[in-house]
Amino acid sequence: MKNLAVAGTGYVGLVTGVCMAENGHNVTCVDIDEQKVITMREGTSPIYEAGLEELMRKNIEAGRLHFTIDYQTAYKEADAVFIGVGTPEKEDGSADLQYVETVAKQIAESVAKDCLVVIKSTVPIGTNDKIEELINDSLVNNVRVEVASNPEFLAQGSAVKDTLEAARIVIGTESEWAENLLTEIYTPFYLPIVSVNRRSAEMIKYASNDFLALKISYMNDIANLCELVGADIQDVAKGMSYDDRIGSKFLNAGIGYGGSCFPKDTSALEFLARQYGYDLRTMQATIKINSEQKLKLYEKAKKRLATFDGIKVAVLGLTFKPGTDDLREAPSLANVPLLLEQGADIYAYDPIGVDNFKQFYSEGSHGQGNITYVGSPEDALEGATACLIFTEWGEIKAVTPKQYKDLMQTPLVFDGRNIYDVQEMADSGVEYHSIGRPVSSI
Ligand code: UGA
Repeated sequence: MKNLAVAGTGYVGLVTGVCMAENGHNVTCVDIDEQKVITMREGTSPIYEAGLEELMRKNIEAGRLHFTIDYQTAYKEADAVFIGVGTPEKEDGSADLQYVETVAKQIAESVAKDCLVVIKSTVPIGTNDKIEELINDSLVNNVRVEVASNPEFLAQGSAVKDTLEAARIVIGTESEWAENLLTEIYTPFYLPIVSVNRRSAEMIKYASNDFLALKISYMNDIANLCELVGADIQDVAKGMSYDDRIGSKFLNAGIGYGGSCFPKDTSALEFLARQYGYDLRTMQATIKINSEQKLKLYEKAKKRLATFDGIKVAVLGLTFKPGTDDLREAPSLANVPLLLEQGADIYAYDPIGVDNFKQFYSEGSHGQGNITYVGSPEDALEGATACLIFTEWGEIKAVTPKQYKDLMQTPLVFDGRNIYDVQEMADSGVEYHSIGRPVSSI
């Protein structure tokens, strides 16, 4: 059992802290927001994540999981401090390291015994070296501090499972002491450990995320071509997936990737490459395809309807993917303003993303358009002229083709997630436009 501190209680920090406690370590999670800390002490998670609160409560009760704003006490006696604060994208596409640097300075002024600083946040290659220098330059006590890279591979919506049952733990260290300590911390997890140097570990994180983003953009690119040549992207993906070298995951064409990771990490690596005088063409293409793909649904609907003025539009799904209330880089946020600008009367449904969406678009009129939030897909569809699907929530997938036909004034559906079978929609009398597939003719 080790004494661990975790800086930051977002997706990465909080899940790391909880899962470390679950594996027997004594963990103190540090955040600057006092109100958030008070809530977390009661076992309430500030983020929506399946299974997280149960584990929080279990480990708080067991006395292994603590929350505080007092970073000095938390870092003072820690064997290791995990940094899981955000590294948002700056205007120019580079990663903003100010939060990581602030934590590094706080660690330097607090640690009173030898300590390993473990960076879980996604940071540009070379950052671990810089942070180690920064800490050692401002150390108050005469102790040994080293920095290790330990990138996180959890996905929102399955964060706890992804951490406890990770495919691999990547650790990037520059000394045997650091490698041994981090390996010891992860031993109770019983997971394969890939031990490399710090720069390789930092690159593994970007290369993994950016490869997945590339895979999605590739499928979206092929989907657009499928529409032109009369092929069906879902059949194409199915045929490809039997090849082990390609794999069956992340082959779903749609309206582009969103979230807090792929958009930021593709830009950051492309930016980093340019700093080194290298054109990372695969990422340039990935980013361009994705930004165009996000507007595909709006464009298809606009072409079909000519105008949205005064038209009742059902919007199903607002979050960037199911299982999260996160709206960062969500395709809905790119399309809704265009619909409102054109005077659409939107009825929007999302099982958990509405409160966050209201912070961008409150209920009521916005210029020419209007937005109303409803509690079920059926309420959104009632009397609508068109329906746009942005997220493949289970509640939305449960709507049957017949319901679109029965509930809508005109059964005209634009599906950005390819939820339905084209033929079934046609058989139910629904005009159905999806991505990379034929339009159902009725
Ligand atoms: C992603 C990675 O999957 C995680 O491994 C990684 O740790 C995480 O980023 C991170 O760096 O923190 P996440 O952003 O939570 O996780 O979500 P994903 O499930 O990967 O989905 C990302 C986006 O891609 C979503 O908008 C989703 O709709 C889209 N997507 C995914 C597709 O359009 N097609 C697919 O086949 C798969």
